[in-house]
Amino acid sequence: MEEKAVSIEIKNLVEKWKGKEGNLIMILHEIQNHHGYVPRDISLKLSEMLDVPLARIYEVITFYNYFKLSPPGKHRISVCMGTACYLKGAPSLIEEIKDLLDVEEGKTTKDGLFHLDVVRCLGCCGLSPVLMIDDKVYGKVKKAEIADILAKHGKEG
Ligand code: FES
Repeated sequence: MEEKAVSIEIKNLVEKWKGKEGNLIMILHEIQNHHGYVPRDISLKLSEMLDVPLARIYEVITFYNYFKLSPPGKHRISVCMGTACYLKGAPSLIEEIKDLLDVEEGKTTKDGLFHLDVVRCLGCCGLSPVLMIDDKVYGKVKKAEIADILAKHGKEG
C-alpha cells in the first residue's frame, strides 16, 4: 500500500479515537472492516502514531480470533461440524477439501480464491452433512461431489 495513503488513513483514525478507552481495538476494527484484514504496514504506522509497541498491537490482533493478518479468500467455505453433520461424515468432507485445495482450517488458499472454516451447527441439520460457500448452502453433500461444488465457485479442475 502506498506510504502516503497509509499515513492519511491512520492519522484520521487516530484522531477520531484519540483519548477514548479501548481505542486500539476500535481502530483495528475499522481497519479490518475496511481492508478485510489488518495489513502489516498499517500496524507499523499505527504503532508509530499511537506510540504503542508493535508487539502490543500484534498481541491484541492475535488475542481476538476476529482479527485477521492476511487477506481473506474470495470465497468462504464453511463446513459444519455440528453433531448431526459430524455423524453423517463431515470430517471426510473437510479432508477432501483440504486435499483438493491444499489448504488448512482457518486458512486461505495460495491463490486467494478460497478460505476454509469449520463451523458449528448451521441450523439445517435435516440436510446434514452441510457446507456453505459464501451464502450458498449445500446439503446432503457426498465426498465425491466436493470437486464439482468447488468448480462451481471457480476452482479449476
Ligand atoms: S449439525 Fe450441521 S447443520 Fe446442524
